[in-house]
Amino acid sequence: MTTLHTYDAVVVGAGGAGLRAALEASRSVDTAVISKLYPTRSHTGTAQGGVCAALGNVEEDYPEWHAFDTVKGGDYLVDQPAAQLMCTEAVDAIIELEHWGFPFNRTPEGKIDQRRFGGHTRNHGEAAVRRACFAADRTGHMILQTLYQQCIKNDVRFFNEFYVLDLLLAEDGRCAGVVAYELANAEIHLFRAKSVLFATGGYGKIFKVTSNAHTLTGDGLGVCYRRGIPLEDMEMFQFHPTGIYKMGILLSEAVRGEGGILINSEGERFMERYAPTVKDLAPRDMVSRAIYQEIKEGRGIDGKDFVFLDVRHLDPEVIEKKLPDVTEFARIYLGVEPTTEPVPIQPTAHYGMGGIPTDLDGRVVVGPAEEPIPGLYAAGECACVSVHGANRLGTNSLLDIVVFGRRGGADMARYAAESSLPEAPEQPERQTVGLLRGLLGGTGGDSVADIRAELQEEMFDLAGVVRREDGLRKMQGLLGGLHDRYGRVAVMDKGRVYNTDLMEAVELGFLLDVADTLVATALARDESRGGHYREDHPLRDDDSWLRHSLSYREPDGSVRLEYKDVKLGPYIPMERKY
Ligand code: FUM
Repeated sequence: MTTLHTYDAVVVGAGGAGLRAALEASRSVDTAVISKLYPTRSHTGTAQGGVCAALGNVEEDYPEWHAFDTVKGGDYLVDQPAAQLMCTEAVDAIIELEHWGFPFNRTPEGKIDQRRFGGHTRNHGEAAVRRACFAADRTGHMILQTLYQQCIKNDVRFFNEFYVLDLLLAEDGRCAGVVAYELANAEIHLFRAKSVLFATGGYGKIFKVTSNAHTLTGDGLGVCYRRGIPLEDMEMFQFHPTGIYKMGILLSEAVRGEGGILINSEGERFMERYAPTVKDLAPRDMVSRAIYQEIKEGRGIDGKDFVFLDVRHLDPEVIEKKLPDVTEFARIYLGVEPTTEPVPIQPTAHYGMGGIPTDLDGRVVVGPAEEPIPGLYAAGECACVSVHGANRLGTNSLLDIVVFGRRGGADMARYAAESSLPEAPEQPERQTVGLLRGLLGGTGGDSVADIRAELQEEMFDLAGVVRREDGLRKMQGLLGGLHDRYGRVAVMDKGRVYNTDLMEAVELGFLLDVADTLVATALARDESRGGHYREDHPLRDDDSWLRHSLSYREPDGSVRLEYKDVKLGPYIPMERKY
């Protein structure tokens, strides 16, 4: 039996982008949020170091400097009008959070305090600037709590532990709603809506070592991709330099923002050689590659594949007061006391710059001509607007979710107020029921865990920090085999109550689809730019590649590529030096 719900606006995902959108939409239309988690368990809650805005509270700063850094940090694949808008609206977005009670750290005079972060500079690269506003190293957690409170106050209706498995498009091309699976009892729910916004977060779980939670499996991207919507710039994936060795758990860049440094086996502060001006506060792609290079040249600690993050020279009070969680993570997970011992770290898969293509109002747009799908929106990590280009600057993700979550929420409410409810297609739940039956009926011996582990391991080695044509081709071949095995996967739990086994199988399908697009686009892009580093093509090639990739799913499951121009602006692409 299918349960029917009707709303003006439906938001899929209850992280920062989803909550901010829902809050905005709920000011004028009837709004629901569907989330596979309890909202405050969403991954935004693990963002640590800060959310940036050129407030100029502790040092001179301007939105224009911030926009320049964002474009340069993104290796010029950023759409410049989007970056300019985000950096300008950042200031109000922070003040708005403050008015909702967000507990920012304060300067002695009572202003919002700000700290340094990678790639954020004064006057177009002169030196690092203090631009990140923060609540110790729990900034994302506080954003999530603050926005959730506001949503509750605004009577947003929440459907928690519901997995959205399909997107409905009406015959006239409008978005008509979504189909969801309720984890508690296996019921199918049809949500008819005038507008739908996807805010389902990232897909870091395609890699073995990642800062991402178990739940970040690219669901929203997979759902849209299977319905013919292209995914933009999927080759652009960011590795954060400082994940806990082997575990990938994030140790915030704020550690380096507060003065921490990276050292190799010779005790050398090696970032001085790679980025003489900003050193350890270079953008993440450069720092991660530098770590890779140090290890490759034999300067990993004890000859192994990690280096040290060192804060022993910092005032212990700064460590305890401004970095309490990070410090605790090192103690708990590694048994290391950061005030007296260096901490083993390695790059960890952190953030997908690509995603569902949108315009500045969060409207999903298709193809090089950017035709909107009426009523369909996306925001946050699952979207690509594109403000991060080929490499996101730290703290720009929390900014992205509040700025574009608000814009998406406002436009989806405007659109819903002006529109009629589209007719749902016939048998709207058919595809979802077919998917679940297929997985439950699988008779083969392959387990979800085995296929997923192989995917993650191989992706980390062949499509991670450093890529090469032969490795990517190998990965493409492996993916073909993994898809075949997935077609025969065995879901052991056949029950209807909290069947997480079944949902993990669904999620694996999304991971495989997303990995297909990443590998296909990385193989095609025979240059190096931002987070996409091709050892066999180490230089950036603006003549051929100053363009966004678009990946479409063909009926046989293969990936078709198309390209669209980058929206340029005042910043002329130049070599990135720091
Ligand atoms: O290092 C960090 O605190 C992460 C921030 C981010 O990804 O923006």
